Amino acid sequence: MTKLVICNWKMNGSVQLVDSFISSLPQSNDSCWNLVIAMPHVFLSYVNSKSPRFKLAAQDCSIYGGFGARTGEISADILASIGVEYIIVGHSERRAHGDDVESVYAKMENAVRCNITPILCVSDDYESQITNRTEELLRRRRDAVILAYEPVSAIGTGVTPSIDDIRETITRLRSRYGVNSIAYGGSVTSDNAQDVMGINGISGALVGGASLKLRELSAILNPREFI
Ligand code: PGA
Repeated sequence: MTKLVICNWKMNGSVQLVDSFISSLPQSNDSCWNLVIAMPHVFLSYVNSKSPRFKLAAQDCSIYGGFGARTGEISADILASIGVEYIIVGHSERRAHGDDVESVYAKMENAVRCNITPILCVSDDYESQITNRTEELLRRRRDAVILAYEPVSAIGTGVTPSIDDIRETITRLRSRYGVNSIAYGGSVTSDNAQDVMGINGISGALVGGASLKLRELSAILNPREFI
């Protein structure tokens, strides 16, 4: 199964860093992974024009759909027009800054309407983050959404749940919500990426801090070369 390595750069990066990544990152040579680039919005078109081999993801989108007088907003429709294939919604860092379940739902719905795959992030309290409406959308679009299990305690801390715990939660999420694609995020590095990616049925990983370091990311993608 081809796994997704979703690089969440958060509010980081520069044109110089983007350039060095584009020129240095390998193409998937044995198609065991697809590299999904979730750089800040402003870099996405640039990446695409330089190297169409990466899949583009946005880190967020507006709750509003379409186009119009919404200064500062970026809609899923605008993201679709530049070739974005995935949108991260409900990341804990956004929930902490005001995204409630209704706005996360609106973003997800906008992504789906634009034929973009939403990557819905949930933490250990997923029952309260997935409302009936969200669950209905997950079930209806089970093949076109990704659920990302991202325990808040693991994000940026270097402290991850055990592989068994991640496996268990992923299994529970799949049977509870019927979604086919489930990823894990939270302190994935070259030290644990192989174990995480090796979890039966996992669709991929969201990689934050480690995705900003070229050597780390290369080691996650091609562990054999770094043994
Ligand atoms: P981290 O971030 O890899 O730096 O823990 C992951 C995320 O926030 O998606």
